[in-house]
Amino acid sequence: MSQNTLTITDNRTGKTYELPIKNGTIRAMDLRQIKVDAEDFGMMTYDPAFTNTASCISKITYIDGDRGILMYRGYPIEELAEKSSYLETSYLVLHGELPTRAQLDEWTWNITHHTFIHESIRKFLDGFHYDAHPMGILISTVAALSTFYKDAKNIFDPESRRKQTFRLIGKMPTLSAFAYRHSLGMPLAYPDNDLSYAGNFLNMLFRTTEAKYKPNPVLEHALDVLFILHADHEQNCSANAMRSVGSSHVDPYSAIAAATAALYGPLHGGANEEVLLMLREIGSVKNVPDYIKRVKAKEKLLMGFGHRVYKNYDPRAKIIKKIAYDVFEVMGKNPLIDIALECERIALSDDYFISHKLYPNVDFYSGLIYEAMGFPASMFTALFAIGRTSGWIAQWQELLLDPEQKIARPRQVYLGYDKRSYIPIDHR
Ligand code: CMC
Repeated sequence: MSQNTLTITDNRTGKTYELPIKNGTIRAMDLRQIKVDAEDFGMMTYDPAFTNTASCISKITYIDGDRGILMYRGYPIEELAEKSSYLETSYLVLHGELPTRAQLDEWTWNITHHTFIHESIRKFLDGFHYDAHPMGILISTVAALSTFYKDAKNIFDPESRRKQTFRLIGKMPTLSAFAYRHSLGMPLAYPDNDLSYAGNFLNMLFRTTEAKYKPNPVLEHALDVLFILHADHEQNCSANAMRSVGSSHVDPYSAIAAATAALYGPLHGGANEEVLLMLREIGSVKNVPDYIKRVKAKEKLLMGFGHRVYKNYDPRAKIIKKIAYDVFEVMGKNPLIDIALECERIALSDDYFISHKLYPNVDFYSGLIYEAMGFPASMFTALFAIGRTSGWIAQWQELLLDPEQKIARPRQVYLGYDKRSYIPIDHR
C-alpha cells in the first residue's frame, strides 16, 4: 500500500477505500465513490465558511498562521515593507518575480498613465448623497468602469488583462479620492503624473489651493508601506469573492466590485474603521478593563483582534505599530494610541485571549495611522482596497489560467421539506 494514501472504512457498509494524498490534501471528489448503495449520491464534506477546505492551488502568498509568517512570492513581508515600494511589490505579486529596473519603469509609467477616469464617472458621482460612504461609492464606480471598457470582457486575452490591470491599479486611488472629496463637497483634485503612487493619492485627497502639491515624504512613505502590507493575503473573504465571481468569466471590474463589497464588511476590511469607533467608544485608558470584561462576556468583539489564519501576532500589525510612531512624529500623537496599547497589554496577558489565540491583526493599528494622517474613519477601508487591488487581480489571473478551475459552485446539505402540495391562500 502506498504511504501517500488515506484509508477510509465506511462503517455503514464495511467497505474500505484508499484515497491518494497530494500536498497534504485528499480530493473532495474522491469521496464521492463512498456510497451506501447505487442510489446514494456519494459522500461529501461539510465545511461551512471553508475553515478546512483548499479551493485552489496558488503560488502567490504564503501564510504560516501559527508562526506569524507572511510572504509574497517567497519574499518575507518585513523585507518588502523595508526595501520595496508598492508598485514594485504589486509587480511581484502579479508577475511572480521582482522587476528589473526597466520593467519597473515601464510598469510605473503604465499605471501612472491610467489614473484618469472618464468624465462621465464624475457625473455618476454627483448622484451620490453628500454623506454617502466612500466604500459604497467605490464599489459602484469600479463596477461602472466595466461599462466604459468593453474590451475587458476578453478575459482570456493576455493583452486585455494587462490593460485592465493598469487601469484598475491606476484608477482605484482616483475613485477613492473622488469619493472622499465628494463627501466633503470639495472640487475634485486630478491626478498628478509627477508624483509617486502614494504621493499622487495624497495629492488627490488633500490638495487645496496650491499649484503643485508636495506630499510630506514621511506620510508618503508610510502610506506606501501600508499599501505593501495590504497587497495580498491569499484566500481571504474578498479574494474568495474575486475568484468566485471571476469564475463566472465576468469582466474584472465587476469581479473587483464584488471583492470590494466583501472587503467592506466589519469582519474583514471594515474592521479598521470599527477599531477606531471602538477606541472612541472606550474613550479613556481607565475604561479599558471594563470593555475587556464585556468582550469576555461575549457582549462585544475586540475589533482588530483575532484572525481565521493567524494564531499568533499578525506580522503586518507589528510593522504598522512601528510606522505609526513615524507618522505621529510629523502629525502629532493620536491620543487613541494609549487606549489601543492598553487594550493590547491587557489582552495579551489575559487567559481568554491567550486560550483563544487572539492577537492584534492588521486592522488594529492601521486606523490610528490613517486618522493621524487626516483621513476620516470612513476612508480606511478604501485605503485597504487600493492596496489589495493588485492581489485581487493576481488571484483572478491565477484562477483564469488554472485548467482545473471551473465556475465556483459549492454543494449543500438539504434539510428542508420533502415534496408537499401547494395550499391555496384561503386554506392556510
Ligand atoms: N474579540 C473577542 N472574541 C473573539 C474575537 C474578538 N475580536 N475574535 C474571535 N473571538 C472568539 C470568538 O468569540 C470565538 O470564541 P468561542 O470559541 O469561545 O466561541 C473564538 O474566538 C473563535 O472565533 P471565530 O469567530 O469562530 O473565529 P473566525 O476564524 O471565524 O473569525 C475573525 C475570525 C477575524 C472574523 C474574528 O476573529 C473577528 O471577528 N475579529 C474581529 C474583527 C476583525 O478584527 N477583523 C479583521 C480581520 S484581519 C483583516 C481582514 O481580514 O480584513
